[in-house]
Amino acid sequence: MVEIKTPGQVDAIRAAGRVVAGVLAVARERAVPGVRLAELDAAAREVLAAAGATSPFLHYKPKFAPVPYPAVICTSVNDAALHGIPDGYRLAPGDLLSVDAGATLDGWVADAAVSFTVGPPHDGDARLIAVTQEALRAGIAAAVPGGRIGDISAAVGAVGRAGGYGISTDLGGHGVGRSMHEDPHIPNRGKAGRGMRLVPGLVIAIEPWFMAGGSDQIFLDDDGWTIRTADGSRAAHAEHTVAVTRDGPVILTAG
Ligand code: MF3
Ligand code: CO
Repeated sequence: MVEIKTPGQVDAIRAAGRVVAGVLAVARERAVPGVRLAELDAAAREVLAAAGATSPFLHYKPKFAPVPYPAVICTSVNDAALHGIPDGYRLAPGDLLSVDAGATLDGWVADAAVSFTVGPPHDGDARLIAVTQEALRAGIAAAVPGGRIGDISAAVGAVGRAGGYGISTDLGGHGVGRSMHEDPHIPNRGKAGRGMRLVPGLVIAIEPWFMAGGSDQIFLDDDGWTIRTADGSRAAHAEHTVAVTRDGPVILTAG
């Protein structure tokens, strides 16, 4: 079921979104060579606590997961695309890191992600990150009243394919509100003009993630959470929580 939010509820999600932006900013600032991923998670926990927020990631257990998610951020390095668990790994120069974070504040959730390199990017990483960000921008631009979910999918997918990248439809965007994952699902490729009509008050996370090798194939790591590219190529992810309003799309996780 799709829940349409009132303007007051959209404001509440924006407040959670500011916390998410703060978490991502701190993670990015701390992500230097030698730092362990678990230290980024610890820093994220401090930001959430200081804001009076909790994490919708911590202990989350969707059907596909064998164990509850053990952290408040996802840290996906290089060929890890999504849901990397922050562990003892120490970041190295040139690593491509995607950080995904959520916050629950006063019962409302926001969800966002960024990708960047630790120090100067390796060949291809700068382009992969830029194209992923461009796909997010294009997807957000399509989130207008009167459009359809398929318009967002098509906009995101067109940018990814133009870049030559692999796109899995297994995990994509989603409704956001009282819980992190609500209807509708928003695949990262698809046909314009299809799917649910977009109306003011719809709040969605738009989250392109692309694979540099060009294959659409992924696999689940033995840890039961980390999604990796099947071909071992690198992946990048970008995400914002966005409200569809009469005046167009509004980013709620901008900080
Ligand atoms: N933005 C990610 C998603 O929508 C967040 C996953 S959180 C986790 O899938 F808890 F499942 F890791
Ligand atoms: Co999400």
